[in-house]
Amino acid sequence: MAKLVAFYSRADENYFGGQYRYVDVGNTEKAANIIAKAEGAELFKINQKIPYAADYNTCIKQAQEDLRKHARPELVSVPDNLDKYDEIYLGYPNYWGDMPMAVYTFLELFNWKGKIIHPFCTHEGSGLSGTEKSIADVCKGAQVKKGLAVCGSYIQESETDILNWIKS
Ligand SMILES: Cc1cc2nc3c(=O)[nH]c(=O)nc-3n(C[C@H](O)[C@H](O)[C@H](O)COP(=O)(O)O)c2cc1C
Repeated sequence: MAKLVAFYSRADENYFGGQYRYVDVGNTEKAANIIAKAEGAELFKINQKIPYAADYNTCIKQAQEDLRKHARPELVSVPDNLDKYDEIYLGYPNYWGDMPMAVYTFLELFNWKGKIIHPFCTHEGSGLSGTEKSIADVCKGAQVKKGLAVCGSYIQESETDILNWIKS
């Protein structure tokens, strides 16, 4: 059976250990690429139809408002089903101590019975913030394995940690 790395990630302006910087590829996408390469897995990026703003301060307000409303942002595209995958690596940035609401949109679309989910999250201090449980709550019947939290500012230096987590 094939493996899938499904992830949410945002480029544009972000906050890196004390300073704002524009990037072309987000932190979670970098982690997703490392995992996909190591596992020979396919990649799927969860893109919302109306993306959050490029500037960081507007983006955090929009994401906070979506969290408050329990919004389910529409996605640009979704796989028809996950039938050919038995293991799914699910990647997301920590947004306000939770996952981006678009990740819930994605999770709520599928039947997760019998799937193995490996959550991985990038963050700036909050770690996984209980998202493993949130995933288990939504993905009924899936086995949610121990997640990995990587500090986004140190993503470039985290390849070994990511590979060790995959092995374990
Ligand atoms: C809307 C928003 C909310 C965030 N909230 C948190 C948070 O609550 N805790 C935390 O540690 N980091 C938080 N961060 C930082 C991101 O989790 C971190 O920069 C992550 O690596 C971004 O991933 P990406 O580049 O793949 O989008 C937040 C960032 C954004 C844009």
